[in-house]
Formats: sequence, C-alpha cells, structure tokens
Amino acid sequence: MHTSEMFRLVAIWVFRHSIKRDSVDFIPKIGITGKSIFFLGATGYVGGTVLTKLLALPTPPSKVTCLVRSPDKAKLFDQLTLPSGTTLTVLFGSLQDLDKLIAGAEEADVVINAASADDLDAVKALMQGMKNRKDETGHRSVFIETSGTGLFIDDARGEWATDLIYTDLHPTPKTRDSPALLSMEDVPPNAPHREVDAAINEGDARGDFKSFIIVPPTIWGAGQGEIYDKGISNSFSQQMPRLIKISLDRGAAAVVGKGANIWGHVNVGDLGDLFAIIYQRALQTASEGTKSAAIGHGKSGFYLSISGEYTSLAAAQAIGQAMVENKLGDSAQPTRLSEEEVQKYYGNSPYTGSNSRGRGDRSKSIGWRPKLADERDFLRGVREETVRVRKVFDGVYVPKKRS
Ligand SMILES: NC(=O)c1ccc[n+]([C@@H]2O[C@H](COP(=O)([O-])OP(=O)(O)OC[C@H]3O[C@@H](n4cnc5c(N)ncnc54)[C@H](OP(=O)(O)O)[C@@H]3O)[C@@H](O)[C@H]2O)c1
Repeated sequence: MHTSEMFRLVAIWVFRHSIKRDSVDFIPKIGITGKSIFFLGATGYVGGTVLTKLLALPTPPSKVTCLVRSPDKAKLFDQLTLPSGTTLTVLFGSLQDLDKLIAGAEEADVVINAASADDLDAVKALMQGMKNRKDETGHRSVFIETSGTGLFIDDARGEWATDLIYTDLHPTPKTRDSPALLSMEDVPPNAPHREVDAAINEGDARGDFKSFIIVPPTIWGAGQGEIYDKGISNSFSQQMPRLIKISLDRGAAAVVGKGANIWGHVNVGDLGDLFAIIYQRALQTASEGTKSAAIGHGKSGFYLSISGEYTSLAAAQAIGQAMVENKLGDSAQPTRLSEEEVQKYYGNSPYTGSNSRGRGDRSKSIGWRPKLADERDFLRGVREETVRVRKVFDGVYVPKKRS
C-alpha cells in the first residue's frame, strides 16, 4: 500500500474512533478547552452517570471538584480512573455548608447540581459564588441544574390519565386531534422544584451566570461504569425501586388507584448524554459567542429529558410478571393499595398516583437522541430491576430518606 493511502486510512480510523468515544452527537471541538467543574451529587444515581459521561468526552474537564459528605465515599474517589489532563479533588462537606458552596462555585467555570432539586439555600449559595466570579472576571459561569417533572404532577391518585402535556419549546392549543402543549411558564408556582428553578431563572436574567435546567421524569436502569462498580455512586433510581420494594414487601405488585396515571421515563444513560450535550454546547456558546452554537438558557433553558411514557398499571404489571417468573409472588396481577398501605408506603407524598407528562422538544432540537425510548425498553428495565432490587435489598422495604 502506498504511504499516503496508509496515512489516509489511519486518519479516517482516528476520526471515526474519536467520534465513537463520545456517545452523543458529534459536536465540533472548536473553542472548548478543558474546563473546571464544581460538582454536587457525584455519589448519587444521576450524578454518577453524569460525571462518567463528562469524563469520557473528547475534551473532558481539566479539573473536577466534587462536594462529598461521606468520609468513606470521599476516600474511594482516589480509585477512579481519570483521563490524562484531568484532576479530581474532593471537597468534604454538605449542602448545608454554604460557605463551601460559595467558594466552590467561585472557583469553577461550570457548576453542576445533581444533589437536590429542592434545596433553595444551597442553590442561593451556588448563585452567590457564580455572581462573585462574574463580578471579578467578567465571565458568566455555566450552571447546570437537575430539576424533575414533579413540576407537572396533578392529584389523579391513579384514577385517570391527563391530556395536559408540557413542552420545553413551543406551546400549542388543544385541537380535535392533539392535546394542548403547555409551556414551562404554565407550571404553577407552588409545584415541587418550582421555587428553586424560578430563583435560578432570576439569577440568569440578572446576567450573573447562564442556567440550563434539566428536567428528568422517572429515571430507570442500573447506573453503569467504574464509579458504580467501585461503590462510589448509588446505582439505584427512586420511583421504580421504591414500587418494587413495596410490591416485594406485600407479596403482590402494587398499584395506586386504577394505575391509569401516566409519567414520562428516561434511561439513566440517555439522561447522561443530554447533560453531556448541554455541557458542551453551553461552553461552546460561552467561548465562541457565535449564534450557531448558542443554545437557550434562563427561561429558555429548560430541557425536558423525557424519552417515552408509561402508565403506572403497566409498570406494576411488569413487576408482577417478574415476581412470578422469579418465584417472588403467586400472581402477576397487580392489586390496588389500600388507604392504609398508601399511607404506610407513601405517607402524604403529592407524587402518589399523579400524572406527569411532557415533551423534550428543545432537548431534541439540540441533538439529543435517546436510545432506549420505547415503552418496551422501560418495562424490560422494570422487570430486570425487580430481580436486582430483590438481590440487593432482599425484598426488605426501607423508605428512602430525602434530604
Ligand atoms: N432518580 C430519579 O428518578 C429522579 C427523577 C427526577 C429528578 N431527580 C432529581 O435528581 C437529583 C438526584 O437524584 P438521584 O436519584 O441521583 O438521588 P441520589 O441517588 O439520592 O443522589 C443524591 C446525591 O446528592 C447528595 N446529597 C444529597 N443531600 C446532600 C447533602 N445534604 N449534602 C451533600 N450531598 C448531598 C448525595 O450524597 P450521599 O451519597 O452522601 O447521599 C448523592 O450524591 C435529585 O434532585 C432528584 O430530585 C431524580
């Protein structure tokens, strides 16, 4: 083979593999250099995947500072494999250490909050840190917040499916053929997470930083990768593992009301890809300042990460099926939770039996292509999760403490 032909083939191979390494759409690297990140929630389910995806980018961050509150977990970060040129430091502390949050945000180009969607004091401290940085350097930091489609819940208690659907892009009125698409402006001020999201939007509008609020629905699938294998991050989601634990505890798949209510779903890997796209696009905007790279921020920076939908009844049926197949129950048929059981397992949670529907039109407009979007993918995930929950927790119901 001629030498120039060999060089050409090698160049093609390198090009293809550099694209493959990043599972998100190919985005030109012009203008992005390794950035510093202040990361909250890296030991969590969402945070573990987000950090993994960012470290695997063609241009990974040069410096990551993770706020970690558990001394045991803090030690484990030493074992994490990092790309060359990336350093990772643990800042020992909690969301209540507001001075540390301010200092951490002052030091970073990007702040990622995957710890809590509801801690207003913590978010205000992060915002203060980013404002201080702007005042000192003239540059606006990128703030990526994790919210949730709890924003859209209603009081269906499992009895009905709503046709009210929110979009992160263009709302449309209801027609004979299609339901209304509500805008993010229509979210009630007293909805879960709304107060925090509104405060962030105000900080963006003042010009203190650029905010990108990612809004996940039910997230599913085991967290994958070294960060989970080494016991650093929690590999379990919230809603489905909780429903599975309840079902195992009572020996029958559980449903609230008729289970007619609808929620969106997203696989945790697909969600991580959206964070990675937004991270890259937000930084391109910041460094290039070109219109073509710009993606919406502030009030135009809500990104719904919804890839598909399911009914609570379908989820319960999948759990029932997995219970029968694995000899964990006698009948695959879900049974309705009594009032006492609802109280025991869910307390007064406003989420119980609610609808929460939305469309990630803006997310898809910036190149997000979730791979596991079908309801069948989700239901297979629920069946697999039933087996994993049983194995890890031995079917014992332990209510998750929310912080
Ligand atoms: N999972 C879902 O289906 C889902 C859906 C929609 C939205 N969300 C939102 O996504 C965010 C992350 O959820 P997740 O499922 O990843 O939860 P998770 O697995 O419980 O992780 C929470 C993370 O935040 C950290 N954290 C919590 N409170 C803290 C505090 N006071 N000080 C310091 N660190 C603290 C935890 O640290 P430790 O390891 O020390 O506990 C952990 O790293 C939450 O805001 C949640 O509402 C989740």
